[in-house]
Amino acid sequence: MSTPETAVTSTRTAHHRRYLMCKPEHFTVNYSINPWMEPANPTDTAKAVAQWQKLYDLYIELGHEVELIEPLPGYPDMVYTANGGFLIGGRAYVPSFYYEQRQGESPAFADWFRAHGFDTVMPKEINEGEGDFLLAGDVILAGTGFRSAGDSHREVSEVFGREVVTLTLVDPRFYHLDTALTVLDPVVEEGRTAGIAYLPHAFDEASQKVLAERFPDAILVSDEDGAVFGLNSASDGYNVVISPRAKGFEKQLRERGYNPILIDLSELLLGGGGIKCCTLELRGAE
Ligand code: ARG
Repeated sequence: MSTPETAVTSTRTAHHRRYLMCKPEHFTVNYSINPWMEPANPTDTAKAVAQWQKLYDLYIELGHEVELIEPLPGYPDMVYTANGGFLIGGRAYVPSFYYEQRQGESPAFADWFRAHGFDTVMPKEINEGEGDFLLAGDVILAGTGFRSAGDSHREVSEVFGREVVTLTLVDPRFYHLDTALTVLDPVVEEGRTAGIAYLPHAFDEASQKVLAERFPDAILVSDEDGAVFGLNSASDGYNVVISPRAKGFEKQLRERGYNPILIDLSELLLGGGGIKCCTLELRGAE
């Protein structure tokens, strides 16, 4: 079914999205909580802002709605709003960050959700929002191993009343689920599974097996494309915003009828984040 905000392409459908972003006005790397962060390397805040702005402008150009949360001084990682929550149907599950350096972000996100009418649920368990929870069709794919605790998977399942599939990450470079797996097409139609792409080597063997069984049609991304954060991408079902360095993935997407659009966030990669990390999906009440 197509609505006014829905553009039908030959094989894929672009859906309207509502996102939450945070301008990296205070971006820097002055601590290290993942292998990409090297405080000794210089960062360029103006460059981070300019790159981020291109992503913001692209979303607007694609017809999406982008909300902004005020960046807090002293929280350079707040630009990675994917970690700011996980939302389905107008309900927001608030994060509880693993590392102390980011813990002060949670109340800011919770306040934002409340002020914007979301049914806001405070967590008991450590979890880093859409960094580790991705909605694929009816199920929630949930990462653990580095950040979100296994117990948060039970909690998120209770909060949303949905099945949760636990996936264990094993490579410290891919410490959040959204660095190793992306949902391209969350809509499940007759006889089809949700469209996903992932980096098999980022997961333990049991999780690789679960993924292969549940998503036989998934795009398997090469180690090379994974290593440049190719999977940290945002899709509306047709347009897929990816890193220009993920050449093989770009080709795979075209072959499957998606429209890859390249945005370079090299400066934000110094903090260990990319396109998806800077994008939180605000799924409202239907
Ligand atoms: N420096 C941030 C951290 O380590 C990067 C977060 C990236 N976000 C994401 N959704 N993968 O927490």
